[in-house]
Amino acid sequence: MVIPVLPSLASWNSFRTRLSKSGPILKGVLNTMLTRRSWAEPWKIKVVEPVRMTTREYRLRAIREAGYNTFLLRSEDVYIDLLTDSGTNAMSDRQWAGMMIGDEAYAGSRSFYRFEEAVQRVYGYRHVIPTHQGRGAEHILSRILIRPGDVIPGNMYFTTTRFHQELAGGRFVDVVVPEAHDPADEHPFKGNVDLDKLESVVKSNSGKVRYVSLAGTVNMAGGQPFSLENLRAVRLLTERYGVKIILDATRVAENAYFIQQRQPGQLSRPIAQIVKDVCALTDGCTMSAKKDPIANIGGFLALNDEAIAEEARNLVVVYEGLHTYGGMAGRDMEAVAIGIDESVDDQHMHARIGQVSYLGEKLIGWGVPVVRPIGGHGVFLDARAFLPHVPQEQYPAQCLTAEIYVDSGVRSMERGGVSAGRDPETGEERRPSLELVRLTLPRRVYTQAHMDVTAESVLSVYEQRQHISGLKMVFEPRYLRFFQARFEPLPGAEERLHVQVRTPPPSSG
Ligand code: F0G
Repeated sequence: MVIPVLPSLASWNSFRTRLSKSGPILKGVLNTMLTRRSWAEPWKIKVVEPVRMTTREYRLRAIREAGYNTFLLRSEDVYIDLLTDSGTNAMSDRQWAGMMIGDEAYAGSRSFYRFEEAVQRVYGYRHVIPTHQGRGAEHILSRILIRPGDVIPGNMYFTTTRFHQELAGGRFVDVVVPEAHDPADEHPFKGNVDLDKLESVVKSNSGKVRYVSLAGTVNMAGGQPFSLENLRAVRLLTERYGVKIILDATRVAENAYFIQQRQPGQLSRPIAQIVKDVCALTDGCTMSAKKDPIANIGGFLALNDEAIAEEARNLVVVYEGLHTYGGMAGRDMEAVAIGIDESVDDQHMHARIGQVSYLGEKLIGWGVPVVRPIGGHGVFLDARAFLPHVPQEQYPAQCLTAEIYVDSGVRSMERGGVSAGRDPETGEERRPSLELVRLTLPRRVYTQAHMDVTAESVLSVYEQRQHISGLKMVFEPRYLRFFQARFEPLPGAEERLHVQVRTPPPSSG
C-alpha cells in the first residue's frame, strides 16, 4: 500500500487556484486529485512519556557495555525503541479504565469471564485457557500435542514456538512457500504454506504429524501474511490426513488486513469477519496478547476440542496459574478483552500498517535493501544486501543493530543467524536464508516524525556501510541465545566498527 502524501493546505489552495485557471483539461486533473485524501490515526494523544536523547559517545559506551546486543541495553538509553511490538503498545483510555475495574479475585474473576467472552466472540473458539503470555500457551500446547519423535510442519519457525516444540521432543519442518526466503520477492502472500511440501512431510512422517503450526503475518519472514485461499487449501489437505491446524494468532488481525487489501473479493469485508473466517478454518490457537490485542502482558490458548482443553486446564494450574487467570492479573484480562475488540477495528489497522508502510516506502525510495513487500509489524532490513562484505558467521544483522543504535539511539532487533540458534541434533549453528534487522513498530506509540528520524538514521548508516565490519560471539546462552548473547568486534576492527555519520543525528545533543 502506498500512502499518498499531500501538500499543506495553504500550498494546496494556491496550487488549486493556479490550476483552475489553466483550462478544462487541468480541471479534470484537479478533480481527480481532489478526491485524494491523506489519512491520519483514529486517535489523539492524551498522555506522553519523555524519551531521552544521548550523545554518540554515550551510546558507544552503552552498546559496548551491552555486549553489542540491543536486548541488553537499558531502555532509558534508547531514543526510539523499535526492538519489538510486544507489550510495548499504547493502551487506549478505555483499556486503562478497564484496568481500574479489574477483578483481582483468585478464582472466578469477573474479568476472566469478560476476557473469555471477547476471545470466544472475536476468534470463535469454544474453550479459552488464559496464560501469562504467548510462550506460556505454546508450552502447554506442545506438552499436550507433541510426542517424542513427532514432526511439526509450519510456515517458517518462530523462536519460542519452535523451542517449545523441540523441548517436547518434536522437530519443526519449514513448509512455507520458497518466496518467503527471498527478501526481494514481491509475492503478496509470502506466509503461504507450500502445499506440495506439506503433503510430502505428512506422507513421509505417517502418524508423526499431529498438527500444522500456522502463524499469521510470519514474523521471521518480515511480517508476511498467508491468504485465506491458501488456508482453505491447507484445511482440505490436513482433513484428508486427520491433521489439525493450530494457529499462532499473535498477529492474526494484521494478517486479516492484508487478506482484505490483497485477496480478490475481500476488500469490502471487515477485518473482524476475516479474522473469524481464518480462525474457523483452524482447530485452536496460541496467542500473545502483547501484540494484536494492544496489551502490555497476557496471552491464551484457545481450542475447540473438549478433551485437549481439559488437559490444558490441568496443565495451566501447574505452570501458569488457576484456569481463570493463568498468570495474568484481573486488570490485565480487562485490558486484553478491550484490546481484542480494538485490534479488529478497520480504522485502527489501516493506521497501524499504514505507519509501517510509510517507513518502509521511504527506505525503498532511498534504495535501502528491505524485505518486500513491507510487512505488518515492522520494516525488515536485508542485512546480507546491506553489508555484503560481512559473512554470516560474523553476524551482519547483529552488527547493523549496533550501528543504528550508535548512530541515533534507535533500537532494532537481529532476526538472522543469532536468532536461529543451533540445530539441537548436530549442535551446528543454523544459517538461515534471511539475515534481517527488524525495525518493529509498537502500536499507537510513535509519530511520523519518529519514522523520519529512524529512516534518516538507517540511510546514514547505509551510506557508510563499507566501513562496517563483523562481530564475534563471546557469550552464548544455552537457550534462545539472541536474548542474552554477548559480542565483541573482531580483532583489529574496533577502530572501524562505528561509522562516522555525515551530519549529527537528532539525538547527539
Ligand atoms: N508467536 C509469535 C509470532 C511471536 O512474535 C511471539 C513473540 C510469540 C509467539 C511469543 O509470545 O512473547 O508473549 O511469549 N514475539 C516477540 C517479538 C517476542 O518481539 O516478536 P510472547
